[in-house]
Amino acid sequence: MNTNEIITLVTGGNRGMGLEIVKELSQKGQRVIMGSRSFEKGKTAITQLSKTGINADLVQLDVTNPASVSKAAQVISDKYGYLTILINNAGAVFDFQQQPSVVKLDNLRADFEINYFGLIDVSQKMLPLLKKSPQAKILNISSMMGSKTASLDPKTGVYNVVATGYQSAKAAANMYTVQLAKEMARANLPITFNAIDPGMVATEFGGSTPEQAQQFGANPVDFGVARTIELATSPDDNTTATFTNTSGNVAW
Ligand SMILES: NC(=O)c1ccc[n+]([C@@H]2O[C@H](COP(=O)([O-])OP(=O)(O)OC[C@H]3O[C@@H](n4cnc5c(N)ncnc54)[C@H](OP(=O)(O)O)[C@@H]3O)[C@@H](O)[C@H]2O)c1
Repeated sequence: MNTNEIITLVTGGNRGMGLEIVKELSQKGQRVIMGSRSFEKGKTAITQLSKTGINADLVQLDVTNPASVSKAAQVISDKYGYLTILINNAGAVFDFQQQPSVVKLDNLRADFEINYFGLIDVSQKMLPLLKKSPQAKILNISSMMGSKTASLDPKTGVYNVVATGYQSAKAAANMYTVQLAKEMARANLPITFNAIDPGMVATEFGGSTPEQAQQFGANPVDFGVARTIELATSPDDNTTATFTNTSGNVAW
């Protein structure tokens, strides 16, 4: 099997930052597979991209549906045989501004289903494909909202935010990042695993429009994906178990 081509899977790739990552990595010559929980939405996004000369592939992938994740891994195995980069981008918030004293357990569970369990299910099921690549990377689109240090620091924008379930799920996914990165290193496997904070980005995240988010100071999507693109295209095969943004290290 020729593994020279960089094959990259982006979960939640049909819109927002995921779509921007699909676009930019395709432009940089990677063969990018857009994971989309709705095949139809994915097809629409792929068609739009193709009108601008960008060709990406598509796989149906709902990170909270174990059968969908298994099937996507099988489809990728059959079609490509391996994976070079996995970008765990799919994410959502279900408890924004709900105070911790009354936040609904169902909302907390929904936060964990996508941001934590979904991310782990995808990572575990794609791992056999990543192991077939001579050098592989997993990138987690995390958030400074998951940083306990930032949430205790009045100087950060995170200080006044309340989304306990989302923040806890991102913090938990950060710990999974550290633990899986260490497991890969102990086993001398050439797979790095890093978490990224994109900053506040103007997408439809949390149910707002990109325009509304921009009014609250959110950055454009190309700024939000900059660190991800940097890590996904870097020749550095050693950096692992980090949490960074465009300014440097982020406190766990
Ligand atoms: N925007 C920000 O300010 C910000 C800041 C820090 C971190 N982040 C993180 O950045 C990542 C991307 O967020 P974004 O701003 O681009 O948000 P977005 O515009 O809301 O996009 C979220 C993407 O995730 C997909 N998704 C939702 N549930 C899914 C599921 N069960 N399985 C697979 N895909 C699913 C959505 O697909 P559908 O179209 O089907 O809903 C969409 O493609 C998330 O992990 C988020 O937590 C965002």
